[in-house]
Amino acid sequence: MEITFLLNGETVRLTDPDPTQTLLDWLRTKNGLTGTKEGCNEGDCGACTVMVSEPGRITALNACILFLPQLHGRAIHTVEGIASPDGALHPVQQAMVNHHGSQCGFCTPGFVTSMAAAHQNGQTDHDDRLAGNLCRCTGYAPIIKAAKAAETEVRADWLDTPDFIFTEILRGGPEGTGAEPPTGPVCAPQTGDVLAAFYADNPDATLIAGATDVGLWVTKHLRDLPKIAFLNRCDDLKQIDETGDSLRVGAMVTIDRLYDAMQNRHPSFVEMLRRFASAQIRAAATIGGNIANGSPIGDTPPALIALGATLELRHRDTRRTLPLEDFFLDYGKQDRKPGEFVEAIRIPKQADHLKVYKLSKRFDQDISAVLGAFNITIEKGIVTNSRIAFGGMAGIPKRARHVEAALTGQPWAGATITKALPAFEQDFTPMSDMRASAGYRLSAAQNMLRRVWHEDQGTPANVLEVAP
Ligand SMILES: Cc1cc2nc3c(=O)[nH]c(=O)nc-3n(C[C@H](O)[C@H](O)[C@H](O)COP(=O)(O)OP(=O)(O)OC[C@H]3O[C@@H](n4cnc5c(N)ncnc54)[C@H](O)[C@@H]3O)c2cc1C
Ligand code: FES
Ligand code: FES
Repeated sequence: MEITFLLNGETVRLTDPDPTQTLLDWLRTKNGLTGTKEGCNEGDCGACTVMVSEPGRITALNACILFLPQLHGRAIHTVEGIASPDGALHPVQQAMVNHHGSQCGFCTPGFVTSMAAAHQNGQTDHDDRLAGNLCRCTGYAPIIKAAKAAETEVRADWLDTPDFIFTEILRGGPEGTGAEPPTGPVCAPQTGDVLAAFYADNPDATLIAGATDVGLWVTKHLRDLPKIAFLNRCDDLKQIDETGDSLRVGAMVTIDRLYDAMQNRHPSFVEMLRRFASAQIRAAATIGGNIANGSPIGDTPPALIALGATLELRHRDTRRTLPLEDFFLDYGKQDRKPGEFVEAIRIPKQADHLKVYKLSKRFDQDISAVLGAFNITIEKGIVTNSRIAFGGMAGIPKRARHVEAALTGQPWAGATITKALPAFEQDFTPMSDMRASAGYRLSAAQNMLRRVWHEDQGTPANVLEVAP
């Protein structure tokens, strides 16, 4: 396998690298670029953040869960490559100095690269941009002050990579060649067709999309992955296509791109996605991975089920679709044959009635304890349709069919809500774990339905609205 990328402006070509070596490990052990730090080694702390550019897109990513083959065709800037070629500090570096944004300095390279990526993009939502960077000693106020101070400074054009470099040098030519056909146990197919053939022949291979789950299998569980297909070169799986009645989102669409696609459609979904992990994880994690991992606490499935989304699966040249809720059969068990993969998710276009509530121990960057999604249509004061789904309430993301039945056809009134609450116990027998007890989960789910009603009545219920 050949991999080509830019590292701080220099072209790097690797032949048959260890496919599960992380960028962080490679930078520190092979290059002496030790500015990029290892904190948690699991995507939580941001100490390893690097800036990654590709055509039309600049992101901050966690190098600790980024495998070398995922770098192909991209331009990486580590903290060592952020300053201007003439030696002047990058505006965010200078602002960190001016505002005393660093003490021990361990987290600082990660903050600086996150801030530099945001600065290039003109993003000023600093709390969200930096929610994935943890600092134990400075306190966040000086860091946020620094980020704000740098807002008005001009973009660092030395960090831009011209498009022709991506297409002609890094990707091997204008046609986007540059990856050999899959022959060995590790492959990086360039199309869904090639992936489909490889995976049908090698159903025991591990598919790697954004690696925000799989990365931890390697860094934390020390697992060997003998056969792998990296999906990052399959541009056809990264498409978002709008048709007359639906939005088709390719499996390799990242959570931050889904966030953009939902902006003017379902604002409550967008607000939930704002709290999906961190900016670094959202820029790597894919919708396909979030569904295929079958997690009972994945954040997107309940919202997508409430929207009536259908899943498109592919095995070699055979494709099938199924309602997303039918994909999840039991804990750890999905309706997916060996060698079959998620190709896309199709979301029906509809008027927006969706409310999505994520409940987690920590507001930012935390896995949900309970996530409720409510898509309730009210016409002339009557509930005419309801699709309600939860994460964290069962071994799978699951619809609340008894609650739906208790609401549908009834007047939209406080009394209807109260009468529907016992139906939660028919739908769910949640478990107790470190995130929440069974009783807490059940009450929280019921309170979420109450919240839909109260918000509809204009009562502030969002924690950001009611907090002192
Ligand atoms: C710090 C941190 C915070 C997180 N916070 C959240 C959170 O708030 N909410 C949340 O829901 N999740 C969270 N996650 C989990 C993770 O980010 C998501 O589940 C993510 O969507 C996984 O996508 P990925 O592309 O990284 O998948 P990968 O890690 O590449 O793959 C995950 C699984 O899906 C399989 N797979 C991937 N793509 C396909 C496909 N197209 N077809 C078939 N199988 C496929 C892989 O083989 C693997 O089994 C967090 C993870 C980390 C590390
Ligand atoms: S080392 Fe903590 S996010 Fe990578
Ligand atoms: S400055 Fe010490 S951890 Fe942030």
